[in-house]
Amino acid sequence: MPNRPEKHPGMIFRSEQPLNAEPPMELLRQSFTTPAELFFVRNHGSIPEIDADRYRLSIGGMVQRELRLSLDEIREQFPRSTVTATLQCAGNRRQDLMEVAPIPGEVAWSAGAIGTAEWRGTPLREVLQAAGVEPGALHAAFTGLDEVEMENQAFGFGGSIPIEKAMSPEVVLAYEMNGEPLTPEHGAPLRVVAPGYIGARSVKWLANIVLQAEPSSNYYQTHAYKIFPPQVDEETADWEKGLMLGELSVNAVICRPTYEEAVSAGPVPVQGYAITGGERSVERVDVSTDGGETWTTADLQEGNDPWAWRLWETLVDLSPGRYEIVARAWDSAANTQPELAEQVWNFKGYMDNSWHRIEVSCTG
Ligand code: MTE
Repeated sequence: MPNRPEKHPGMIFRSEQPLNAEPPMELLRQSFTTPAELFFVRNHGSIPEIDADRYRLSIGGMVQRELRLSLDEIREQFPRSTVTATLQCAGNRRQDLMEVAPIPGEVAWSAGAIGTAEWRGTPLREVLQAAGVEPGALHAAFTGLDEVEMENQAFGFGGSIPIEKAMSPEVVLAYEMNGEPLTPEHGAPLRVVAPGYIGARSVKWLANIVLQAEPSSNYYQTHAYKIFPPQVDEETADWEKGLMLGELSVNAVICRPTYEEAVSAGPVPVQGYAITGGERSVERVDVSTDGGETWTTADLQEGNDPWAWRLWETLVDLSPGRYEIVARAWDSAANTQPELAEQVWNFKGYMDNSWHRIEVSCTG
């Protein structure tokens, strides 16, 4: 496996081992579906080498019959479906939280740990129904074939989703992304895609699915991807008490202009993306150039993909000077975003959905 997958030359590599990369904002906002070469990569361990011919997916736990399926069996014996879905890492926008207070040991994501793709595969529920879901099964737990090293132990990355989500048609076991076979860094030969949930639940290089009464006991479910109050840190955290992340929160990001860009006076186009979680939809995006005193309603790009982001744009009238442009979204539950990063800071740096702010200078 080459160290660096084939990615766009503009990609920003946040770390090499494990490999973590995100696109710059202006490239991310170029298209509704994100080309694979611009799709962010979030790994906790190394990218495993998997022989697709020998690959088997096992399904066990609280099922009526255990299954072991080859890729051909998954492709040929189960219905196929395609879902256009956005994946967003819970650590997206961590950089803004890092400006509030240090967050050591975590990836310093800007706002590019997000992407939208057409995922083709088999609905997870088809495979679960074939195995027969036992009544007490409340969670579907996934483990990957990668090896994460921690305290001299190596284990596969894992996580779980509630059984109702697992049985919803949008959750797929994907083998294709944007009409091409999945690439190694995105989870080939098979990955989970759980739309509306934090990216961590979309387990790549899927080895097994276990139905169980409790959420996954994997480190990435029991420790990482939990939110704690601001006064709690690594030393004082009671891992039992953290808020276990699942559905995404509402978030809007400005992609253009970019940070510190020089723009010309007059109508200035402002463009970005917005996303929310669960079954909610983005309903409105507001943009302000006076710190939230007054707001312009942005135009949401037409689209009927319930599991994908909404791209938006508007024009703001600027005269020469320096500005902070701010954006915030509202979703169908009337959730909106907190004003300040300070209000959502947590020591792991997850779920920053404070108003997104960029600074520009405007010349005459
Ligand atoms: N699956 C495995 N096996 N190992 C991982 O490190 N990272 C998760 C998830 N699935 C991960 C994984 C996280 S945190 C995210 S945000 C998404 O994969 C990122 O998917 P991508 O790299 O295809 O963008």
